[in-house]
Amino acid sequence: MITSSADNLDIIIDDSPEERVFENSLRPAKFDDFVGQQGLKDNLHIVIEAAKGRQENLEHVLLYGPPGLGKTTLALIIAREIKANLKTTSGPAIERAGDLAALLTNLEEGDVLFIDEIHRLNKVVEEILYPAMEDGFLDIVIGKGPGARSVRMDLPKFTLIGATTRIGMISAPLRDRFGLTYHLDYYEPEDLKQIIERAATIIKTEIDAEASHALAERSRFTPRIANRLLKRVRDFAQVKGHDTITPDIVHESLEMLGIDELGLDRHDRKLLEIIQHKFGGGPVGLSTLAAATGEEQDTITDVHEPFLLRQGLIMRTPKGRELTDLGRKHIGIEQQQKTIF
Ligand SMILES: Nc1ncnc2c1ncn2[C@@H]1O[C@H](COP(=O)(O)OP(=O)(O)OP(=O)(O)O)[C@@H](O)[C@H]1O
Ligand SMILES: [Mg+2]
Repeated sequence: MITSSADNLDIIIDDSPEERVFENSLRPAKFDDFVGQQGLKDNLHIVIEAAKGRQENLEHVLLYGPPGLGKTTLALIIAREIKANLKTTSGPAIERAGDLAALLTNLEEGDVLFIDEIHRLNKVVEEILYPAMEDGFLDIVIGKGPGARSVRMDLPKFTLIGATTRIGMISAPLRDRFGLTYHLDYYEPEDLKQIIERAATIIKTEIDAEASHALAERSRFTPRIANRLLKRVRDFAQVKGHDTITPDIVHESLEMLGIDELGLDRHDRKLLEIIQHKFGGGPVGLSTLAAATGEEQDTITDVHEPFLLRQGLIMRTPKGRELTDLGRKHIGIEQQQKTIF
């Protein structure tokens, strides 16, 4: 089925159940299938082997980086590698201290607790986590008022894996309690090409080398996007009656999806255009930009901005976001026009 143009708007941030099922079906389960991020993998491999050798638990791990780069995937791989049971939750799901206490007291020796979006834990919950991570106990207050008393409970030894797109929002005391912190960086086109070819095999689709290269180049340096675009292009090829995805099919279908030659979608281009036309090329602050574009601030900072920065189309200054010469050129404006505003 060819997706309608209304769907196209959401390729980048779609988190529908359908997309999640697709995503899970492509998630590598072993380090060997996890493409790229070589330095990180080598390091993790060593610390895991060392912990196994000492028969100790793996230290707590914090994974951070933009969406879709493999944080959740890595958490699952780590748990599998150390043969641990994995319990999964997320920052917003743990509302009260009692929620966290229930989770922690239900852990068994050696378990991995994965907290996604860990930057969204509230302060009260976070403070309960500190002694649990550091010293392996939990202080629970029973009762209220003058009769209230604190009970200390020992916890089984566990490994916490936290994931976040916002390292800057993690408080220093929490960050310090992770023995291992890894930054996932954007992927090189070569890695994305490999990811696309791996996914094509799994979804039983033929794609030629040049086509996977073209697709990789437009995937926002992001495995999730590479896989999603592959799915769309596969649908397009099928409807057009082609057995193999060729570069022409990639170009035609991405054009239909509104993805340009650098991988920008409609929302990215709108951001660039608004910075140029409403704010004279910038600088413009985040909240002003969000109001002017109608985008969520979080979506701008997590999704669009890091990518546009990486492409060299915008830059960040103390006063806000500014378009670069490349950015102006990309929306068809020549350099000298900047001075008009
Ligand atoms: N290194 C990789 N090799 C192969 N596939 C990958 C890799 N990294 C991510 N993927 C694929 O990309 C998809 C998204 O990855 P994942 O869910 O782990 O991202 P994330 O960093 O947790 O994103 P978010 O911040 O949105 O939670 C998965 O389906 C996975 O199959
Ligand atoms: Mg994730």
